[in-house]
Amino acid sequence: MALWHFMLNFALMNILLIGSGGRESAIAWSLSQSPELGELFIAPGNPGTLAYGNNVSVDWRQFVAMKDFCMNNRIDMVIVGPEEPLCKGLGDQFAADEDLASILFIGPSAKGAQLEGSKDFAKYFMMQHNIPTAAYRTFNANELEAAVDYLATVDGPYVLKADGLAAGKGVVILDTLAEAQQEMRSMLGDAKFGAASSRVVVEEFLAGMEFSVFAVTDGKSAVILPEAKDYKRIGEGDQGPNTGGMGAVSPVPLFDEAMQKQVMSRIIEPTIEGLAKDGLPYKGFLFFGLIDVEGEAMVIEYNCRMGDPETEVVMARLDEDFLPILRDAGNGKLTNRVARQSKQSAATVMMVSEGYPGSYPKGLPILGLDQASEHAIVFQAGTTLKDEELCTAGGRVLCVTGVGDDMASALGKAYQAVASITFDGANHRKDIGQDIL
Ligand code: AMP
Ligand code: GLY
Repeated sequence: MALWHFMLNFALMNILLIGSGGRESAIAWSLSQSPELGELFIAPGNPGTLAYGNNVSVDWRQFVAMKDFCMNNRIDMVIVGPEEPLCKGLGDQFAADEDLASILFIGPSAKGAQLEGSKDFAKYFMMQHNIPTAAYRTFNANELEAAVDYLATVDGPYVLKADGLAAGKGVVILDTLAEAQQEMRSMLGDAKFGAASSRVVVEEFLAGMEFSVFAVTDGKSAVILPEAKDYKRIGEGDQGPNTGGMGAVSPVPLFDEAMQKQVMSRIIEPTIEGLAKDGLPYKGFLFFGLIDVEGEAMVIEYNCRMGDPETEVVMARLDEDFLPILRDAGNGKLTNRVARQSKQSAATVMMVSEGYPGSYPKGLPILGLDQASEHAIVFQAGTTLKDEELCTAGGRVLCVTGVGDDMASALGKAYQAVASITFDGANHRKDIGQDIL
């Protein structure tokens, strides 16, 4: 028994990681350092992930091909990076398939993924389980006039959220009643975000500093990963349109021991208990988008995945093997604890294409990565190889991640590396981390 147990614990694991961005690059980077890793496959990955494993073109939407791939390559664990496969039920497909059911699947069922996939579901869940969040009301498409009238009874700023997934664009915050009512007509009446805005959540506006906390859960217990703060707007001083994220830092000073205790007891534990009580199977990542309202942490949003670019700094500061945490989540063997974190600070600066988050060119040669790597870890995101030459292929191109003894040093290294990288029209924010220095 003891020997068998020993062998089981130390069997190398073959892992399939789904995704292609900076987040997946950082997860692959971390897993590639695990002594317990067998083969790592990234589907589809990007040129940067070739340094950590094998890129494979199998598409999660083609279930038969996905199944064949997992069987042929003796995959032991599947880790899902983005939310879409989870919201569309990939976890349920694996669980329902006799041949795949023994594979550890890191990501919730479609029902669990509704914490991210439906704002109304998440708000109702939080209300049911007494988890601190902004007051809200939800309106359906046939309640447009009631929604418009309701807005007139509350104070601004007005927070309107499309219920469903809207590629990060579904939240609109407006100062005046007239704008808010017009936006409501466009979301609910004219289906501005398609089916995603067939229901709209109106929320009380909260003011405070935002930060993100990440946990890996097996549905009963959780391991808390390093926290992070991201920078969403394209422009310095948080101006201009929202993006997927222009940078991130970790640690976040306001997440001190007292705040950590508060978040665990009032938010993380009730969330996991709530999932169990409501019969929502959940093994995977929980991303808590939080706001500090005068010392009280409140939930702005849940995601069923890691953040991007938060993962880049979280992985840089995780000071233990990530693989066993994920394996234990898949096996239902986690115990409540905080993962070991490096005392160092990490900062990631996103280099983006000219025009992003609007339209942008692709296929531009990227130079200077070797020199940059002397100062920072460069996680690739929107990149491709064209005749062996590294070129841009997306809006967010590179996540340049500095690690140092304090935040100033981490930022210094990241920006030093950014300075040595060039591609036509490259853009980045120069004020990442300034607000917490
Ligand atoms: P979400 O997609 O729900 O994270 O919302 C996107 C962004 O909108 C958040 O990161 C916040 O900056 C902002 N936001 C969302 N809800 C609220 C709220 N109730 N009060 C103030 N800001 C909010
Ligand atoms: N950076 C924010 C997110 O991943 O949702």
